[in-house]
Amino acid sequence: MPARPYVIDELISAKAIAARIEALSHQIAAEFAGTEKLVVVGLLRGSFVFIADLVRELDLPVEVDFLEASSYGDATESSREVRILKDLRGQIEGRDVLVVEDIVDTGYTLSYVIKLLQNRKPAKLRTIALLDKPSRREVAIRADWIGFEIPDEFVVGYGIDFAQANRNLPFIGKVKFVD
Ligand code: IMP
Repeated sequence: MPARPYVIDELISAKAIAARIEALSHQIAAEFAGTEKLVVVGLLRGSFVFIADLVRELDLPVEVDFLEASSYGDATESSREVRILKDLRGQIEGRDVLVVEDIVDTGYTLSYVIKLLQNRKPAKLRTIALLDKPSRREVAIRADWIGFEIPDEFVVGYGIDFAQANRNLPFIGKVKFVD
């Protein structure tokens, strides 16, 4: 199938993202104050830029691990079926854990991951999502911290892709189909 032509309009600037991450990092550091070493779990692949910026703002001892859950494939609609494609390398029992997600859309991915990780009995599990599309929610779930609430638009950039393109844009943009 030939790709549909589209343009990208900036929705959230790189500067606004950096400022928001700085503000959130203080709240997270306060929540986990005194932790021996926080396990920051990035959900691949969309959170890789966000987690890189977030951990560098966090004034806490951290280690970084990654989990990959299946999501959209190359489409713009959620499959609603979550599978784990890559599990954590480390153990989280008794540990403080922060799950870092790029976008909460229908909510299936985050709720699945939370259940999976809660079963491993962490001491404390919290979640942060850079973007939240509450109008799309099908599962009642909310991240503990949210960077930005956005309308029902398909977005790219800052780690987030459309059919594996545009992850390297420094800002968040919305995809506008022009055909
Ligand atoms: P959910 O399970 O429907 O909440 O979907 C979460 C995942 O879908 C996110 O981690 C993203 O990978 C993907 N996703 C949701 N909305 C968008 C979007 O606007 N652009 C790109 N990926 C998205």
